[in-house]
Amino acid sequence: KTYPLSFPKDFLWGGATAANQVEGAWDADGKGLTTAEVVKKAENRRETTMGDVTKQSIKTAIKDHSDKFYPKRRGVDFYHHYKEDIKLFAEMGFKVYRFSIAWGRIFPQGDEKEPNEAGLAFYDKVIAELLKYNIKPLITLSHYEMPINLTLKHNGWSDRHAIKEFTRFTEVVFKRYRGKVPYWLTFNEINTGAWGFHETGAIDSDLNEHDQLQLRYQALHHQFVASALATKQLHEIDPKAQMGCMIARMQTYPATPNPTDVRAAQVADEQNLFFTDVQARGEYPEYMNRYFAENELQITMEPQDQKLLKQFPVDFITFSYYMSTVTKAGDKQKTVGNFASGGRNPYLEESDWGWQIDPIGLRVTLNELWDRYRLPLMVVENGLGAVDKVEADGSIHDAYRIDYLRKHIVEMQEAIRDGVELIGYTTWGPIDLISASTSEMSKRYGFIYVDQDDAGNGSLKRSRKDSFYWYQRVISSNGDSL
Ligand code: BG6
Repeated sequence: KTYPLSFPKDFLWGGATAANQVEGAWDADGKGLTTAEVVKKAENRRETTMGDVTKQSIKTAIKDHSDKFYPKRRGVDFYHHYKEDIKLFAEMGFKVYRFSIAWGRIFPQGDEKEPNEAGLAFYDKVIAELLKYNIKPLITLSHYEMPINLTLKHNGWSDRHAIKEFTRFTEVVFKRYRGKVPYWLTFNEINTGAWGFHETGAIDSDLNEHDQLQLRYQALHHQFVASALATKQLHEIDPKAQMGCMIARMQTYPATPNPTDVRAAQVADEQNLFFTDVQARGEYPEYMNRYFAENELQITMEPQDQKLLKQFPVDFITFSYYMSTVTKAGDKQKTVGNFASGGRNPYLEESDWGWQIDPIGLRVTLNELWDRYRLPLMVVENGLGAVDKVEADGSIHDAYRIDYLRKHIVEMQEAIRDGVELIGYTTWGPIDLISASTSEMSKRYGFIYVDQDDAGNGSLKRSRKDSFYWYQRVISSNGDSL
C-alpha cells in the first residue's frame, strides 16, 4: 500500500552547474584568472589533480595562455551559448537552475575597489534569460574558485583577509540582483575544504599532515564567518531571499555490526556534518572542539566570530549526493577526487569512475538531515558521470543515466512520505561539462550532449539525449511518471 504524499506542487526541479566547468571565456571581458583554471587535466581518470598545486605550478599556468592543459578555461562555452542552453533547460520544464558566479569575473584580482561591469553584465543577461522562462536562479557564490591573485598574495582563505574581499563581492551581487534571485548558497561542498586547495584556494602541498589540517580548518573558519556575514548582508539587502549552506554529503556505513566499526562510522559522519552543524546551528559542536584539542589544532577566532555564527545561521540546507561510503575501525579516511573513498561496499554497483551507486543512501541521508536540523532541504547535485555513445543518426541512448536518476528520485519521494521537507532537486550537469576532479569532458552527466572531446576538439553543438525527454516527463508529471 502506498502512502499518498508525493512531491509538493511547487517542488523545484532543475539542474546545477559551476562557472568554471561550463562558461569558458576564461579571459574575456576583463575576467581574471581563477584557482580552477590553473589546475591541470588528470592523466588518469581515477585520480584527481585538484590538489596538485604548488607556487611553481601556478607560475607555469599563468605563463601559459592556452587551455590545452587547463580544460576549465574552455568549459563548454556557456558564455556564448547561454541563450541556447537556457532555452533547452526551459524545454525540459526547469523550475530552477543552480549556477555559480565566477568571483574573478566581478573582481578580476579579488581586491579591486570597483567591480568589473562587463562581468556583471554577463550575469545580468543570464538571470534575465532565466526569468523570461520563469526559471528561478539559485546561485552559488563560491564554487571551487577564487581570483588567483588572492592565492598568490594571501594564500587564499587561510588568511582572514579573504573575508573582507569576499563580502565586498557578495554585497555587489546581492544589490545588483535584489528581488531576482530567491536562493543563494555560500560555499560549494564546504566540507571538501578539509581536503585542500580546490576549495580553500590555499596552497598547502608543501606542508606536513598536521600543518595542512591546521591551515585548512583555519581557512574553513574564515569561510564560516564569511558565510554568516553574507547571510546577514542578504537578509538586509533582500529580505525575501534565502541563504543556504552546501556540503558533499557522505553517508558512512559501518563495515560490520562490530560496535567499534559503528562508532568509526559515526565519527566519519560527524566529520562530514560538522560543517552543517556550524552553518545551521551556529556553533562549533563539542565533538569537533575535542577533535581539534586532541590533534593540537588551534582555530584562531576574533572575539565577535562566535556571536556572528550564532546570529546568522543559514535558512536552508543543501547537499550533493553521489554515493555512500564504508568505514572500519582504524581506517584512515582517504580521499579520491573531491570525494572520500572508504572501503568498498559489496552490495553496491559502481560507475566507470569507481563511484558506488546507492539510491537508498540518499533516503537515509535525507531522513537523517531532516531529523537533525528541521530545516528545508534541497538536493543540489546528484547524477551519473558516464561515457556516452552517439549513434549514427545522432541519438544518444543513455538508459543507464535514466536508471540512476529514477532510483534516486524514488528514494526522495519516500523521504517526503516520511515527512522530510525536501523543496528541490537539481541534477548535476544537466548539460555535459568539464569534470571537477579530472577535468575530463568524456565524464558526462548531461541530458544535453555537447560535441567536444577531452582535447577540446568538436563543434560544441548541443543535442538531446534520451534522458532529456525522460526528465521532461518527470517534471511535467511532478515526479509521478518516472
Ligand atoms: C561535486 C562538485 O563534487 O561533484 C562538482 O560540486 C563536480 O563541481 C561534481 O563536477 C561531480 O564531480 P566530477 O569530478 O565527476 O566532475
